[in-house]
Amino acid sequence: MLKIENLTKMFNVGETTEKIALNNVCLNLEEGDFLTIIGGNGAGKSTLLNCISGVLSVDEGKILLDGQDITNLAEYKRASYVSRVFQNPLDGTAGGMNIEENLALAHRRGKKRGLGWGITKQERQLFHKLLSETGLGLENLMAQKVSTLSGGQRQSLALVMAVLVQPKILLLDEHTAALDPKTAKTVLELTEKFTKNSKFITIMVTHNMNDAIKFGNKLLMMNQGYVVFQASGEEKANLKVADLISKFSQAGAVLNDRILLNN
Ligand SMILES: Nc1ncnc2c1ncn2[C@@H]1O[C@H](COP(=O)(O)OP(=O)(O)OP(=O)(O)O)[C@@H](O)[C@H]1O
Ligand SMILES: [Mg+2]
Repeated sequence: MLKIENLTKMFNVGETTEKIALNNVCLNLEEGDFLTIIGGNGAGKSTLLNCISGVLSVDEGKILLDGQDITNLAEYKRASYVSRVFQNPLDGTAGGMNIEENLALAHRRGKKRGLGWGITKQERQLFHKLLSETGLGLENLMAQKVSTLSGGQRQSLALVMAVLVQPKILLLDEHTAALDPKTAKTVLELTEKFTKNSKFITIMVTHNMNDAIKFGNKLLMMNQGYVVFQASGEEKANLKVADLISKFSQAGAVLNDRILLNN
């Protein structure tokens, strides 16, 4: 269970550019939950994910995972149970290495055994099985350099790497935003496949209101550092884009073209 209590994060404290990026944010997620987060530019979505992964320290509040207070735990100590897929397909995978080397690194994440290794037969079989689930033929390209893959193939590989060793939390920060609509759809379907019936908590930031409604069982709307709306279960399943627009408007949010044109 992930419990976030009154989280506040400020930037440039004491300067004219001081910014409260997260303002008293509270969140409760259970095992297997899939939360979508929607909000305009600068709402604090990435900051929230960065606080959960430990990239950023927090100013106030607590982050508890399975009852353990991880608020001040170093990022590298969370790495074995927090997986991330970023917006840019170039982040999260090593272009100079081939597919199976990337997977082997992900497989040994958090373990002592580093690069002085050979890839075992069992590992190869596991990689083959997971890659074939992408439906992109990646299992036939294991020796291919990752830099030669398309954005969609690379994001799919990043996703496989993120769930290869089951994390406790999977963080997806607009991981399909840099892809064309068709490829984005493929990667989202793969996301659903890998997260379905999983025990881990998935948090997906998106600027697409349809996707925020369609995917997951919980939804969080943010504006200027505040959580302005939350929905789960039936209420979330019955939401329409018009409902979200109305919630944004009640919160006084100015929606940019990026959000509106994507729906
Ligand atoms: N390292 C930083 N230093 C100073 N200000 C920052 C930093 N990171 C984020 N901010 C500010 O904090 C606020 C929240 O930023 P954040 O990146 O979390 O927004 P976001 O909701 O992810 O937006 P986007 O949709 O554009 O990705 C913004 O005003 C941003 O300018
Ligand atoms: Mg962001």
